[in-house]
Amino acid sequence: MKTYHIPQTELSVSRLAYGCMKIGGSWGPEPLTQAVKDAAAKAVVTAYEQGITLFDHADIYSRGKSEEAFADVWSIVPRDKIVVQSKCGIRFAGDPYPGAPHRFDFSYEHIVASVEGSLRRLRTDYLDVLLLHRPDALVEPEEVARAFDDLSAAGKVRYFGVSNHTAAQMALLRIHIDQPIVINQVQLSLLHHYLISEGVVANIAGKPAVYGEPGRTALATATLDYCRAHGILVQAWGPVASGQVLNPPADAAPHVKATAALVTQMAQEKGTTPEAIALAWLLRHPAGIQPIIGTTKPERIIASCQADAVTLARGEPLP
Ligand SMILES: NC(=O)c1ccc[n+]([C@@H]2O[C@H](COP(=O)([O-])OP(=O)(O)OC[C@H]3O[C@@H](n4cnc5c(N)ncnc54)[C@H](OP(=O)(O)O)[C@@H]3O)[C@@H](O)[C@H]2O)c1
Repeated sequence: MKTYHIPQTELSVSRLAYGCMKIGGSWGPEPLTQAVKDAAAKAVVTAYEQGITLFDHADIYSRGKSEEAFADVWSIVPRDKIVVQSKCGIRFAGDPYPGAPHRFDFSYEHIVASVEGSLRRLRTDYLDVLLLHRPDALVEPEEVARAFDDLSAAGKVRYFGVSNHTAAQMALLRIHIDQPIVINQVQLSLLHHYLISEGVVANIAGKPAVYGEPGRTALATATLDYCRAHGILVQAWGPVASGQVLNPPADAAPHVKATAALVTQMAQEKGTTPEAIALAWLLRHPAGIQPIIGTTKPERIIASCQADAVTLARGEPLP
């Protein structure tokens, strides 16, 4: 698979990444089962065999069980052949005391404890990349900087980034943090395209985005342009909108069905898979976007990786 160099790092990674959010089974308190572990290993090894070298985690995925399940692949996948990324900063309701609210937490203590938990579950000495999962309204950038310094000095995290952050939120962090912010992971797909379309529809009253989609206000946060200007890799989560781009439910909105029909038609015309078309749309963007695929099905992982062979032209679909 073709690769990206992550700017500001020594990392070279596959253009598609594999998202491990769903490999740990349920989000309840029950322990991992052997069946879930076996399916997780199959999905991860399939992705690796298809050429994927970046694996995305978070401390919260299935309450830690996704990271735990992933660790079983070390007998097959050499640690130094892949880039392992995890996230911190979301706390469940009830953590750490009964009645505590669901919230975001970028405190020094939470960041450091979260990384230590991830390393223990993943059975690895270091994370290649740590992302701050979702913006914390109470962020104190000096405290984040102290946590990053200590994690970096201890060799526990090589590089740092963010997720779901706006340009201004990244700019604020960058004032205080010595390490570069190398990634921003954001929701992006044919059906959730707002960070791309905002710059096109900004300040045009009542302009529908695509296919008569009911008007959604673009925030015009200039997040993608900020990432391009500052050498921050954009990762796209939800790249097939939970399968809606490929297999829309019967009651889906007209613009969803129209998008899926076009994706299917283009896949037939180009002799490839619908997954490949949906992901190639993201790969076409000159920012160099890295889709993070989230399917747990080996056959869908293989179908997704066909995107690497598809290059969409300007103005697709072509006559
Ligand atoms: N930073 C964040 O805030 C954030 C948020 C969410 C996710 N993420 C990361 O991004 C990764 C991908 O996110 P995602 O899971 O939302 O991405 P996605 O790839 O858009 O969606 C994957 C989901 O769609 C289903 N699916 C795939 N193909 C399908 C088809 N043809 N028909 C019907 N359903 C289909 C999959 O089910 P099957 O497994 O059955 O194929 C799976 O449940 C996650 O694993 C995680 O690492 C990050």
